[in-house]
Amino acid sequence: MGTTRGLQEKSIVLVGLMGAGKSTVGRRLAKRIGLPFADADEEIEAAAGLTVAEIFERHGEAHFRDGERRVLARLIAGPPSVIATGGGAFMDDETRALILARCTAIWLDAEVETLAGRVGRRGRRPLLEGQDPLVLLQRLAEIRNPVYAEAHLTIRGGALPHGKMVDRIVEALAGR
Ligand code: S3P
Repeated sequence: MGTTRGLQEKSIVLVGLMGAGKSTVGRRLAKRIGLPFADADEEIEAAAGLTVAEIFERHGEAHFRDGERRVLARLIAGPPSVIATGGGAFMDDETRALILARCTAIWLDAEVETLAGRVGRRGRRPLLEGQDPLVLLQRLAEIRNPVYAEAHLTIRGGALPHGKMVDRIVEALAGR
């Protein structure tokens, strides 16, 4: 009981590389613990009236990152929710500081081979355009994993079914 109340005091923010399951796991986690769910990429798309790929193409990555920073600040200032971030959001110093101060950050860690098998879907992932997913993800993992590791909790087991990932997260949150 106490744990359920604890879970709802702060927003839970999922971070990690593309393909880690942040959106799918986040949606299921939110349902399980009775919090609203927000997907930062979807919010950015709604605010811009453009897809992530279109924002990158028309305005460039820096513009996307500005929008991402604003959207996350708004979501974090709102009522406690489960928030799925895009893979680059936690790399922004301002966003990361805000998440670490106000929320519970959870890194969904997975082997790059697992991630590469999952990132086939297009539209949201312009960084993958014309790239070998495994090579790109390896490069991103080298740069980003030490930063994702600053999250309050790390959940490994990216190859697990999403329901099992949710179980692990709930257990980890209860143990905090
Ligand atoms: C990005 C990840 C994407 C999306 C954008 C940039 C990144 O989100 O925000 O394409 O820099 O890793 P997902 O992690 O949900 O794929």
